[in-house]
Amino acid sequence: MTTGVVNEAWVKDVWGKIVAKVERTSKRIGDSFPYASVNGTYNSESNDWWTNGFWPGLLWLIYKENEHADFRDIAVSVENQMDETLLGYEKLHHDVGFMWSLTSVAQYKLLGTEASKIRGLMAASHLAGRFNLKGQFIRAWNGENQQGWAIIDCLLNLPLLYWASETTNDPRFRHIAVAHADTVLREFIRPDGSSHHIVCFDPETGERIEARGGQGYSPDSAWARGTSWALYGMALSYRYTGHQRYLDAAKRVAHFYIANMPADAAPYWDFRAPVEPETAFDTSAAACAATGLLEISRAVPENEAHIYIDAAKRILLLLTEQYVSWGEDEEGILTMATANFPKRAYVNVPIIYGDYYYAEAIAKLRGRTELFW
Ligand code: GLY
Repeated sequence: MTTGVVNEAWVKDVWGKIVAKVERTSKRIGDSFPYASVNGTYNSESNDWWTNGFWPGLLWLIYKENEHADFRDIAVSVENQMDETLLGYEKLHHDVGFMWSLTSVAQYKLLGTEASKIRGLMAASHLAGRFNLKGQFIRAWNGENQQGWAIIDCLLNLPLLYWASETTNDPRFRHIAVAHADTVLREFIRPDGSSHHIVCFDPETGERIEARGGQGYSPDSAWARGTSWALYGMALSYRYTGHQRYLDAAKRVAHFYIANMPADAAPYWDFRAPVEPETAFDTSAAACAATGLLEISRAVPENEAHIYIDAAKRILLLLTEQYVSWGEDEEGILTMATANFPKRAYVNVPIIYGDYYYAEAIAKLRGRTELFW
């Protein structure tokens, strides 16, 4: 096994620039809920938005090294403001994992805050409560006819369940996570390593009905960020369970990703979308793939690890050279991400999860193993 530490000057240099940039942008962004940067400035979402964990997550990632009190205070304030959503219940959905892993679980792991532990466990209980026993999947969204919908993104919510089982010494949460991950393995991830975005089941019988394109180009296409969710998500399920089938799946998706990776490491938003002048890019998929590849590198034998480390390094170096902004005219770090191309929502702009995954991958190259997922 390898830790994948890359003691190269550029890694140290990039980390220093990330810290300096976040020190600067945090003074303006403060305890708001940044999602996408338009014309150089991050917007702010409401306190129920699914990406609200990423900004505090980025601050905690850096805080673990520099113990910067301002970063801590902002992250704590964002988490506190999210209580309205947590306690309000109605706006909760499966992305409680994204939202509370990088806020409450992070704070609990770093500072031992009891209230944060309770929040994390409440969020995990909500996620567990969305499990459909017949279909063996976690319901994604709350739409009127979406009782039977599951989506690939949910793999990144599963660490909240694994954490809850470890924290309470109660395997129920893990059982649900494993059942969902097995359904994803069977119904989402194709033999070639690509993945569906949405699979719909009959919520009464659990029978599979159909796959849908969702944020991808079509039911049979390969949404780039969905590919990264599958890659990193399966690697994380392996980390928590040790089940070889999850590592095998993560590797299969990784091989698909690497084989389809463009020369400059910035994929189009869907690997199978027709390439036209307006076809958007999604660098957030590349950043998430990079941190996932590094996760795989830690799980495989030494003689295989270099495949995943080299691929991750290549992605991160190319992103750094061509798509990262250190300038004062742009609050985002990683440019050219796309939130939802079918809806033309935030196309070719920095998005907070792109920044977070880029920073997380760089932190891993520096040897960080203790993360919040
Ligand atoms: N989880 C939704 C997305 O990746 O945009």
